[in-house]
Amino acid sequence: MSNNPLHVVILAAGKGSRMHSNTPKVLHKVAGRTLLDHVITTSLELEPAQIHVVVGHGKELVIDEFADIANGSSLTFVTQKEQLGTGDAVNHALPNIPANANVLMLTADVPLIQTNTLRQLVESMQSHTLTVLTAIVENPFGLGRITRDESQAVSGIVEEKDASAEQKRITEINSGIICARKSRLSDWLSQVGNNNNQQEYYLTDVVEIAYKAGDPITTLQPHENDEVNGINDRVQLAAAERIYQQRLAAQLMRDGVTIIDPSRIDIRGLVSIGADTIVDVNCVIEGKTQIGNNVQIGPNCHIINSEIADGVQIYANTVIENAVVGARSQVGPFARLRPGSKLADGVKIGNFVETKNAQLSFGTKVNHLSYVGDAKVGENTNIGAGVITCNYDGANKHKTEIGKDVFVGSDCQLIAPVKIEDGATVAAGSTITSNVAEGVLAISRGKQREIKGWQRPVKKNK
Ligand code: UD1
Ligand code: CA
Repeated sequence: MSNNPLHVVILAAGKGSRMHSNTPKVLHKVAGRTLLDHVITTSLELEPAQIHVVVGHGKELVIDEFADIANGSSLTFVTQKEQLGTGDAVNHALPNIPANANVLMLTADVPLIQTNTLRQLVESMQSHTLTVLTAIVENPFGLGRITRDESQAVSGIVEEKDASAEQKRITEINSGIICARKSRLSDWLSQVGNNNNQQEYYLTDVVEIAYKAGDPITTLQPHENDEVNGINDRVQLAAAERIYQQRLAAQLMRDGVTIIDPSRIDIRGLVSIGADTIVDVNCVIEGKTQIGNNVQIGPNCHIINSEIADGVQIYANTVIENAVVGARSQVGPFARLRPGSKLADGVKIGNFVETKNAQLSFGTKVNHLSYVGDAKVGENTNIGAGVITCNYDGANKHKTEIGKDVFVGSDCQLIAPVKIEDGATVAAGSTITSNVAEGVLAISRGKQREIKGWQRPVKKNK
């Protein structure tokens, strides 16, 4: 590689009118991450000297979104007040780029571009002053077309709106991704005018200017054509989502995850899944989620910002959010682990059980229809069907503490704050309002009576 520093310019100032949205286009999301985030993350892999994001429309929102990443990094923002075209946008970034740099120009609405493709573009700067990433596509409508001279050398780019009928038949399109030597780029850009259909300063015009100046120009193609799919409306956004999901699924499968149907999984965020884990259909896995090895995830599960250890079994229709599930635990079907749920190893949570801000220790079981919230439960405790920790008095939340080897019978209400000591038994149907001592049986329910000869009410005739 040459020693010239690499500067990346990302165009992100446009409104994206075709999205019909109050949100700037570049903040719309693919796989739970903004379009701009995809392009920035890919750019960072090239380890550039600096990334210049050209912002304009909705710039406060955009800058705010990336404040954390920008802090102390090579990411900077340049404001383009009026969106006068892609050439004008690049012009705004140029003053901050040294003369000996290679400039890689990306657009935030082409988020599927991959690092390897970009790397080749940068490498081509050793022998060329301008490289355009192009693709041959079936339907080039709306895109800039690559024109070539008699010797097939690139001679320019013509936008759809300015193209002749003959030029519209060209199927080689401009991806919008262009790499150039800064020294030459400033010279070309200073010559770009806005005498075209849209009265914009087109970045694409530099190609013809460079061609006429005799600069060495080349074109490269992406490894996969769909890397250069642009997103201008929500139909294209949805298409990009599918392509990206297939890519993620393929990567996971190559790394040892079994995905029952790769077209029916959605990964949104920073998700890692270990080998020999099986994911059944229609699961949505979001946020910062780590899933270990040998985990089984049944159909229709939603897992958000959680840690799932090795060997866990999650049965169908389970929702897990901001929770930790220890090794070999079992959860579901139809369970809901809400934020702050921490399951140790070997815990069993069954159907229609909800937990929130609850710590459950090794070997504990809550198998049916219970609510365990603001609670701490010791080892090997059994919580029967329909047990409720009554944690909320209408104004404040209170804690329930349950020791180890406790047996809570079915249909009990534990009125917090309350503590049940180790080894205690709570009889079914009890409402527990005060602490239960170690090893005792606590029972609080009406004595059973029998009324002989009981007559059931009969329906009255009208
Ligand atoms: C652009 C290219 C076209 C190419 C297509 C590929 C030009 C003139 N045309 O067309 O050849 O085939 O991309 O997807 O370059 N932007 C700014 N400031 C502006 C205008 C645009 O920052 O003043 C940004 C937009 O936010 C967007 C990018 O530049 O991220 C491209 O602009 P857009 O209007 O989408 O260009 P296309 O019509 O798609
Ligand atoms: Ca576009």
